[in-house]
Amino acid sequence: MNMRTRVGIVGAGPAGLLLSLLLSREGIDSIVLESRSREEVESTIRAGVLEQGTVDLMTEMGLGERMKREGSVHHGIELRFDGYGHRIHLYELTNGRAITLYPQHEVLKDCIAARLAQGGHILFNVKDVELFDVSSRQPLLRCAHEHMQVELQCDFIAGCDGFHGVSRLSIPEAMQHVFTRSYPFGWLGILMQAPPSTNELIYAYHERGFALVSTRSPELQRLYIQCDPDDDIARWSDAMILEELQVRLVTRDNWQLLVGPIIQKSILAMRSFVIEPMQYGRLFLAGDAAHIVPPTGAKGLNLAVADVRHLSLALTVFYQENRTDLLEAYSTTCLRRVWRAEHFSWWMTSMLHRFPDDDAFGQRMQRAQLDYTVGSRAAATSLAENYVGLPY
Ligand code: FAD
Ligand code: PHB
Repeated sequence: MNMRTRVGIVGAGPAGLLLSLLLSREGIDSIVLESRSREEVESTIRAGVLEQGTVDLMTEMGLGERMKREGSVHHGIELRFDGYGHRIHLYELTNGRAITLYPQHEVLKDCIAARLAQGGHILFNVKDVELFDVSSRQPLLRCAHEHMQVELQCDFIAGCDGFHGVSRLSIPEAMQHVFTRSYPFGWLGILMQAPPSTNELIYAYHERGFALVSTRSPELQRLYIQCDPDDDIARWSDAMILEELQVRLVTRDNWQLLVGPIIQKSILAMRSFVIEPMQYGRLFLAGDAAHIVPPTGAKGLNLAVADVRHLSLALTVFYQENRTDLLEAYSTTCLRRVWRAEHFSWWMTSMLHRFPDDDAFGQRMQRAQLDYTVGSRAAATSLAENYVGLPY
């Protein structure tokens, strides 16, 4: 089957789906190729925190109705250490900006429904996606779909296929610089059937390691504890996880974690990764395909949204005004925000986790940084403005 589209998009995550919707708003057609099934895309538990700018963009695009109804707006977060909680008043410190808790898979359900309602094409369950001629004016995508060979002729390809995708591999090694950092710990994440223990997220620093309390819905909590990245999840019984959470989250005023059945648990590795440039010929990378941050700063999904905002604008001025300047500047423009978020995520991670071979000096540094962050309005403002998201 031979098809043609202006923009071939690989991956139906937040980056790929939002890009297809942003482009369609400008009358630019696209086709999305996704290797997983629609059901899997719509049910995988990942991010939870939307920056103000992400929320504003979704609302402006008519995708905000359910988010407004079911998401919850948070005006602060808590940093907890030494048995005390310290509130970072995001709203007050950033002139009225906030974050919204609305799960990534709900964002994806809203995007998929909106795109299909427009008659847009998303091919799920595709296999063996390959990119050809990305440095020419006629790049090509090939894949298998429902026992057919699909050949998709494009003007541009958007590589939105996440960290493990294929798009990035089309950039010749000699043309790329890769920057990475891995961390000597992972996160053990659980979903627990219990009402929220807290109205706002809690980031806890403890000698046994980091812990995070978040929520997914009025009936479901999302919690994380720092663990060994090579740990086997089978080794962690529910009782062990709960005990570790309770120890790390303990307060001097006897705060209680509301507990219930654990319905999902997994371990994820933490890494920082950036490829420069995010473009090669007519291939443009967006989201996790180009950069990864450790989840401590809650930035990954939001960075993906920022990338496709720039990419859709650059493609729009190309088609409407025959201008290539924004396409040429795409990588430089995105990387400014990417590196800011890389730094913020690394900084939050370094401040809040226990490093296995860290000495007493390193721990004193963390404590000094925590004390300063909660005690100085200037330091708290810096955390707050990064956390709610810097302006585009
Ligand atoms: P992805 O979501 O990875 O989407 C890529 C898509 O491409 C996938 O659907 C994949 O199936 C598809 N694909 C891959 N390979 C191929 C192929 N060869 N052919 C076709 N399709 C392919 N971010 C935040 O902003 N806030 C948070 O609170 C937050 N919390 C997180 C918590 C956890 C536990 C994790 C793991 C991540 C978290 N993130 C968070 C990060 C966030 O989930 C990612 O940054 C985000 O999903 C990136 O979106 P994307 O569209 O770039 O990539
Ligand atoms: C989440 O709710 O999954 C979540 C919240 C904050 C983070 C990371 C993940 O920093």
